[in-house]
Amino acid sequence: MAVKENKLGGGWQWLDFDEADSTNNVARALTEEMASGSKVVVSAVRQTAGRGRRGRQWIDCAGNLFMSLAVEAAVKDLGRLVLLSSLCLFKTIKELSKDVDVKVELKWPNDVLVNGGKISGILLEKGSGDYFVIGIGVNIAASPKGNVAAYPLISLREAGIDTDRVTFLKNYVAIWDKTRDTWDKEGFEPLRQMWLANVKGLGEEINVTDEKETKKGIFSGVDEDGALLLGGADGIRKIRAGDVFYIKENVE
Ligand code: BTN
Repeated sequence: MAVKENKLGGGWQWLDFDEADSTNNVARALTEEMASGSKVVVSAVRQTAGRGRRGRQWIDCAGNLFMSLAVEAAVKDLGRLVLLSSLCLFKTIKELSKDVDVKVELKWPNDVLVNGGKISGILLEKGSGDYFVIGIGVNIAASPKGNVAAYPLISLREAGIDTDRVTFLKNYVAIWDKTRDTWDKEGFEPLRQMWLANVKGLGEEINVTDEKETKKGIFSGVDEDGALLLGGADGIRKIRAGDVFYIKENVE
């Protein structure tokens, strides 16, 4: 596996592979050797066994971004870490699409939609010690075709946003550092408010599904830990895992 070590600001080590089975696997293995206080981003031009949430496959398309950030975090912060990571995807796409007329929205727990299509995915996994691996796939150049997802897929190129995986990665990491810094200095509330201001379907009827059941209710926000608040006749329920389906549009 050929690998280039590139420079990034903010104390990040960046390893860019020609090919990896999954950048999450590579990053997870690296966390076994990482000293406390380190930050690593692993990327690959191609992924041969990319995985998504809930055991799904993440399909490799040429030119797309596959990267994994290895960072230290407390277990109590994991829901917030997911919101932070998706908010940073949102911000990066907004920044790269300043001159393009596109609609960018968040979708709980960790998706970003561009013109209503899923542009990216995040897979958070445990690393060694206090390290967690935030695996991020972004459809930069193409989106998988055919009946491969329950949700419509789109790429930045298809939406008219011209960028490449390295530019996206560099912008993302800089935005991630800045947003993490806001969290440290001002607490999580400013991030939660920004996430809520840009999420799709707040106040609307949704279905939330997990392996066992589907719950219907009103999407009433997220709490300070990142749990979804689902309103119903019995009050508000907190949901920590699942997939959201917007009933109005009859899509996931
Ligand atoms: C999802 O199901 O929406 C999450 C997809 C996460 C895909 C990324 S691509 C980089 C990293 N390596 C993987 O194997 N998965 C994540």
